[in-house]
Amino acid sequence: MAALQQIIAGNWKMNLTLSQGREFLDKLEPGLKNKKPARKVILAPNFTLLATLFPRCAACGVELAAQNCAAEESGAFTGETSVAMLKAAGAAYVLVGHSERRQLFAESDQLLAQKLHAVVAGGLTPILCVGETLEQRRQGAAVEVVLRQLSDSLMDFSGARLIVAYEPVWAIGTGETATPEDARLMHAEIRRFLQGRFAWGQDVPILYGGSAKPGNAAELLAQPEVDGLLVGGAALNPDSFLEIIEV
Ligand code: 13P
Repeated sequence: MAALQQIIAGNWKMNLTLSQGREFLDKLEPGLKNKKPARKVILAPNFTLLATLFPRCAACGVELAAQNCAAEESGAFTGETSVAMLKAAGAAYVLVGHSERRQLFAESDQLLAQKLHAVVAGGLTPILCVGETLEQRRQGAAVEVVLRQLSDSLMDFSGARLIVAYEPVWAIGTGETATPEDARLMHAEIRRFLQGRFAWGQDVPILYGGSAKPGNAAELLAQPEVDGLLVGGAALNPDSFLEIIEV
């Protein structure tokens, strides 16, 4: 079976203003010459940067993701951003259910199911994030939690394209990385779930996220079923992001 195209995605979270985003691209663009042609690069800046960065990103083959979206299509939802707006601003993907949204903004799998529906209806590709807390891992419940997140949020999923990102909460922004073995075992469980749920489950890229950096990227990417990385901190610096792209 042909391996999936590897994806290196950078999630800037609530970092980098428009001018800082432009400076990032000033350094990224020349470095992309060394990118493995078969590798896809995605950046998820704050939504206020999408429309301005889009033409430059498109010109150098970098695709854009939004970090979040509204579950509703349009209407009286002050402060929310619809999928249609994100698409018009140049996003091709939307992160759904990042652990920071789940934990800090109390997003439930039921709400995420609605957001997934909105992303599909709007013609973008969701990047569904799942992952257990340290407490859940210590209790031996990591696999159960991740599979429940998947099955609850994908209950009514009717899309034909999906990316999943496994991001153990205890490894995000902590410097603590899941071992390649932890990642391999969880990704195998996720793959089994996806194959059981979708006829095209084998084609869903499964990314790993959580303190991914130049020093551990190659080993993580070498694991079976690790089809790419979702990078936070190390994606804020164009040099370390490029190093990860090139490993
Ligand atoms: P870090 O790479 O900073 O741990 O963040 C991972 C993450 O949350 C990406 O979405």
